[in-house]
Amino acid sequence: MRRARQDVDKVEAEPRDLLHAFVRLGERAHARVTRLDVSAVAGSPGVAAVMTARELPFENDIGPVLPGDKVFADGLVEYWGQSLFAVAADTLEHAREAAFRATVEYEDLPAILTIEEALAHGSFVLPTQVLRRGAPAAAIARAPHRLSGRLAVGGQEHFYLEGQVAMAVPREGGTMLVHSSTQAPSEVQHLVAKVLGLPASAVTVEVRRMGGAFGGKETQATPVACVAALLAWRTGRPVKLRLDRDDDMIFTGKRHDFAAEWEVGFDADGCIRGLDLVLASRCGFSPDLSGAINDRAMLHADNCYYLEDVSITSHRCKTNTVSNTAFRGFGGPQGMMAIEWVVDAIARELRQDPLQVRRRNFYGRGRRDLTPYEMKVEDFVIPELVDELERSSQYQERRRDIARFNAASPWQKRGIALTPVKFGISFTALQMNQAGALVHVYTDGSIHLNHGGTEMGQGLFIKVAQVVADELGVGVERVQITATTTDQVPNTSPTAASSGSDLNGKAAQAAARTIRKRLAACAAARLGGKPEEVTFAGGKASVGRRSIDFAELAALAHGERVSLSATGYYRTPRLHFDRKRHRGRPFYYFACGAAVSEVQIDTLTGEYKVRRVDLLHDCGSSLNPAIDLGQVEGGFVQGMGWLTSEELWWDDAGRLGTHAPSTYKIPACGDVPEDFRVTLLHAPNRQPSIHRSKAVGEPPLMLGISVFHALADAVAAVGDHRLSPRLDAPATPERVLLAVEELRARLAEPVLREVAE
Ligand code: MTE
Ligand code: MOS
Repeated sequence: MRRARQDVDKVEAEPRDLLHAFVRLGERAHARVTRLDVSAVAGSPGVAAVMTARELPFENDIGPVLPGDKVFADGLVEYWGQSLFAVAADTLEHAREAAFRATVEYEDLPAILTIEEALAHGSFVLPTQVLRRGAPAAAIARAPHRLSGRLAVGGQEHFYLEGQVAMAVPREGGTMLVHSSTQAPSEVQHLVAKVLGLPASAVTVEVRRMGGAFGGKETQATPVACVAALLAWRTGRPVKLRLDRDDDMIFTGKRHDFAAEWEVGFDADGCIRGLDLVLASRCGFSPDLSGAINDRAMLHADNCYYLEDVSITSHRCKTNTVSNTAFRGFGGPQGMMAIEWVVDAIARELRQDPLQVRRRNFYGRGRRDLTPYEMKVEDFVIPELVDELERSSQYQERRRDIARFNAASPWQKRGIALTPVKFGISFTALQMNQAGALVHVYTDGSIHLNHGGTEMGQGLFIKVAQVVADELGVGVERVQITATTTDQVPNTSPTAASSGSDLNGKAAQAAARTIRKRLAACAAARLGGKPEEVTFAGGKASVGRRSIDFAELAALAHGERVSLSATGYYRTPRLHFDRKRHRGRPFYYFACGAAVSEVQIDTLTGEYKVRRVDLLHDCGSSLNPAIDLGQVEGGFVQGMGWLTSEELWWDDAGRLGTHAPSTYKIPACGDVPEDFRVTLLHAPNRQPSIHRSKAVGEPPLMLGISVFHALADAVAAVGDHRLSPRLDAPATPERVLLAVEELRARLAEPVLREVAE
């Protein structure tokens, strides 16, 4: 189909009368607000409205799962950066100027800032969980070898390029339209309705696309949308709220940082006999999504390894810091980091190649295919995938080359690591595994597609459009991809857990299939033959050698009074999970991959370079290999950034110091590996997922774990691999340098003692 193309994409203009909002953030980690005087704000130039917790019409709490998150602090601030009040003015400058005219007085309360303090005080947002199988303590005690240790893993700022933004437009009859940069339009709809005291049907939330989200807009877009909606409701005018970068970083939740403590028993081959792992995460002041995130950390603390006798404890620490939230991997990466570090430590203790020890612990057959939560691992492609990557990356040859290089190089050291990833696909909350779609075919044969998924750069929209085009046998350019909106497809799950294309692809396919069946009946009547014999391909419906053009068929069907509009619905089969006992099948299938990273460190400065990276990732029968390749590359680089240069730093008062790109370093083009080789494994999904593809949004992030382990390997080379390095994440150059020096000090220790004796 021909289509007139505009040279420039038309972007909708801002409405006339638009007001701009600014949110004033609290400046204490934990304090009573003894005075909040906004009288000078209201009288400031250009101001149309000011709103504090006291002026709210209805409800203040907007916790997504459990209560605890508020639109505005109500007499109590619980982290440095919590919203106190908001102003709407004719310009953003006026709104900001006015906001700083308020008088705020505090009475400080004791603040708990770190995981250690929270553990010491028994401060938790949710009860501690324990996933146990067998008798880990006895198994560890019986094992020929034992080791214990700890690992700290830092959080991560999402650094979506487009920050949090919403625009609320009051509409007739007291209804409200909210344009929101959110992964969860239905949740924004319900919570905006809740704060305004409206039925959900009176609020429409629309998302054209996000300029990146990474989990940071699963719940964190809600307060921004609610503030805009409240001010729009108050003034009767459209209101836009766009946080600037610093405020965005201070105000919104991040990836949870974790502390892991472990004790492991193993045999002479490095095979794990028993593991006791204790995870503690910094959740911040409210539960937000911390329950599900920490559950996922527990469910990924096995990664690719069979753990017969195991105990995984998960503490969900309550701190006076921003409430941490979803971030690509959703706790999985933190759980995986812990077990990968344990496996590395075993290998170093036994002075074996970590790859060998990894292999010995892989899931296998017989009983060795049951996860700690007793789900059977049915599609474990890791052994073959790792063999293939070991070969294609020349892992063994390079390891020998690196040993030679290190022997001859006193200050520069190289390291290499191969780490695998097995990531469970599905929401662990059962009711979220469903989706809806709406497809219309117009009488000219053009197609309107709407579904509950949101586009954030991950390519969901084009994948779902391809599915519909494929089903109806037309070119994808015939499918109009439309903005996600709650008035077309209701009660949708957030686009998260990597299941956007799995869920919405299937729902849209179902809708297209309904229309196709109706069209097939018309085509058969016209062309002869049975409806089942009609095929749809190349823009035509055909029976044998007779065919009719798709547009002609659409017009014909309409003429015969056949509906050309259909909804589609999908829910993921086979899922069941007992969240209290941590038993069941929380995942439809696993997405797998593996990475080999090679690094070189300068042991005098701690600076390093990632020399080469080889990735092999399983996308099933890829819906769109170009998009998937981008997801794998981008995910890896984001994971590498998390574990290397991205460091969040709070001062003793609980104030985030790293709230701008000047102090928070995400990977730049120059940090991408010099030699970067990415291959997709195209093996059909064992499960009948959409076209047998596999979800790809989150899993590749965890391929970045190989960089951390390669850095640890390079540090270990300083002591000729006789001692295990002590390294926490992120392994910034500073931490690498400290790890080198700490290792050198330990190497020198016995020598000093001998001299002293
Ligand atoms: N890719 C881009 N470019 N931008 C993003 O914000 N988010 C990631 C991933 N890939 C993200 C991305 C996260 S956290 C998830 S859960 C998935 O995309 C969501 O989309 P999907 O379910 O369609 O894969
Ligand atoms: Mo992704 S963290 O599930 O939004």
